[in-house]
Amino acid sequence: MKRLFGIFALALLIVTGKAYADEGMWLPMFVERLNYVDMQKMGLQLTPEELYSINHSSLKDAIVGLGSDAMPRGFFCTGEIVSEHGLLFTNHHCGYGAVQKLSSVEHDYLKDGFWAKDYSEELPAPEMTASFLIRMEDVTKDILGVVNDTMDFVDRTQAVNAKIKEMEKAASEDGKYNPVIKGFFAGNEYYMFVYQVFTDVRLVGVANSSIGKFGGDTDNWMWPRHTGDFSIFRVYADKNGNPAAYSKDNVPLTPKHYLPISLDGVQKDDFTMIWGFPGSTERYMSSFGIDYNVGTFFPIIIDIFGKQLEVMDEFMQKDDAINLMYADNHAGLANTWKNFIGQCTMLRKNKVSEGKVALEKDFMKWVKADPKRNAEYGNALTNLKDAYDDLGKVTKHVFYPNFIAHSGAAGIAAQFASYYEAVKNKDKEAEAVALEALQQMDVSALFKDTDPQVEKKNFAEMLKLYKNAFDANELPEIYSIINRKFRGDIDAFTEYVYTNSVFATPESVKAFIAKPKAKTIGKDYAYIMNTSMMEKITTVIPSYHKAISATRENDHVFVKGLREYYAATQPEKSLYPDANSTLRMSYGSVQDYNPADAVQYDYVCTAKGILEKYVPGDYEFDAPKRLINLIERKDYGAYADENGELIVCFLSTNDITGGNSGSPIMNGKGELIGLAFDGNWEAMSGDVNFEPKLQRTINVDIRYVLFVIDKYAGATNIIDELDIRKSDPKPVRVEEEVKG
Ligand code: ARG
Repeated sequence: MKRLFGIFALALLIVTGKAYADEGMWLPMFVERLNYVDMQKMGLQLTPEELYSINHSSLKDAIVGLGSDAMPRGFFCTGEIVSEHGLLFTNHHCGYGAVQKLSSVEHDYLKDGFWAKDYSEELPAPEMTASFLIRMEDVTKDILGVVNDTMDFVDRTQAVNAKIKEMEKAASEDGKYNPVIKGFFAGNEYYMFVYQVFTDVRLVGVANSSIGKFGGDTDNWMWPRHTGDFSIFRVYADKNGNPAAYSKDNVPLTPKHYLPISLDGVQKDDFTMIWGFPGSTERYMSSFGIDYNVGTFFPIIIDIFGKQLEVMDEFMQKDDAINLMYADNHAGLANTWKNFIGQCTMLRKNKVSEGKVALEKDFMKWVKADPKRNAEYGNALTNLKDAYDDLGKVTKHVFYPNFIAHSGAAGIAAQFASYYEAVKNKDKEAEAVALEALQQMDVSALFKDTDPQVEKKNFAEMLKLYKNAFDANELPEIYSIINRKFRGDIDAFTEYVYTNSVFATPESVKAFIAKPKAKTIGKDYAYIMNTSMMEKITTVIPSYHKAISATRENDHVFVKGLREYYAATQPEKSLYPDANSTLRMSYGSVQDYNPADAVQYDYVCTAKGILEKYVPGDYEFDAPKRLINLIERKDYGAYADENGELIVCFLSTNDITGGNSGSPIMNGKGELIGLAFDGNWEAMSGDVNFEPKLQRTINVDIRYVLFVIDKYAGATNIIDELDIRKSDPKPVRVEEEVKG
């Protein structure tokens, strides 16, 4: 991809002849070779060794991957260490699941917030682990050493995966570390990341959702934004500083590095740097992949998730208990749903596929100019076209059943498939195994965080949605039953299932397990719904896998060719690999933008906007009275800017994506100035193509974070633990020097 720059950088450009490098999620290991000079020009004051070192403590040691288990292969969010006692900042929406699990209707921390006054009050966060990167290394030679040109793609993949397993095992030092090897540039390079994973992570503080999620899904993915999107945890270790399972004897981790905090605030053009674990981008995707997503894949997911959200919303908004139960699930679905709508809209609007077609044309011209190149890369794009055509034919046959077959009682029924099959096949041994599994099953956990009214309504709506998406002759067996026995009335069918199925309530499931009868399972409509839908997937799954595999195989060839093409035609350009949940660094600057003709968006927003958006009692725009009072009095303490205003969020040009949430945004001194938490609507196509003029990262300003902790929540114990700095007089900014 082109090394692009914003129109904002022109002043600097004239003087230095160098562009702002906003685009790119760079591997910290290569910072010195690829980025350092650029970063220094833009305002970085740290040395390469201070950024990334495997011998000394460095900035990377303060960056944490947040995972859900003890051996994560990827991270759902990022966090950063901000004190010498293992205190960790991340986003509110990253801690959301953990806070939900710690909450009850009586102690609803999502609704009311939570602040521990000392270590003893901190709450062990379920399913939250903190991974620190010890080192990374290039293992391309070892991994690709096991493949050769005579292997087909399947053999190749198998050989690569086996080698990855072997190398990861060797590097784990008997479980001391979690080494993860990942492919880069569509499997043309491989790197190993060695992590130390801490499993005792505790909740320290979280504001009410009406601060942490202020603006809800209406404001999500959009600017201007007034969300206090942060939460606070602490990493614990055993007495020797090593990872250990939760124990009251554990102590706060003494980190190798923690981030100091700057109260200096941001000005337009200030250098910014974000470190974190971006999950996935598709920057090298072909036009065929984009067209497939926009035309086929995204609309299916939008259809399904949209309906599920509608059902949840109906109940959540009028019932606190249901609201709490579905909170995390709803937030996740809503986030993806709106993202996919945004991607469909903006991939079209920003003409991303058209841009790719032009690139592909140039690429093919270059390929055809040389017989050797043509032999290697000549077919990649036509193969990709065919592969996506094939994929398009089966996609809806995979995803509708995939997301619907496990709705409500049908999902519970699915747990009984092994037992039923074993009995049917008269396989006594398998029957005994399956029965034991059923008896050990935690039935209450299966129904946890679900409400029967919501599940039932969703069950019916999903059946209707499925029916709508297919021709009558394509529908699974369950619909003939609905037609024959319920005259096609899905609501009547649902009513019947929820009154009569064994799988509708925890009580009936428990009673059934005590005295199971395979025959009953086979006749249960919830069971038939699940199995008849899953059968539909089974019939297309070979074609689906074949098509997916063909896209991977040809992407591998295409990206290899693209890299050669760029090296030959634009040798000055550095390429960065797609995000894959490994540690990356992105740098840029504080910038505003023009979302549309005649519209100018400022790069900061203030607490005044909270008052403007505030709707008392609203599901999304309510705010705590106490917060409103503080803002009305402008009682901002040390956190006000030079005009006495409170900056809530600000924009920067950093290149981030999902997984970066919670990432520290830092100034040139490596001090924390905010937490990245979102992208903006106009650049929702950004995962496929970076849009320098439009694409912005939305950050919550650290001064708003501290204001909420200190002035709103009175959690001065947390403030006292932080290393808060303010420079005086204000530092001279780089471009001011340049402009002279
Ligand atoms: N868009 C944000 C992200 O992907 C998540 C924001 C969560 N807030 C919400 N209202 N659902 O990281």
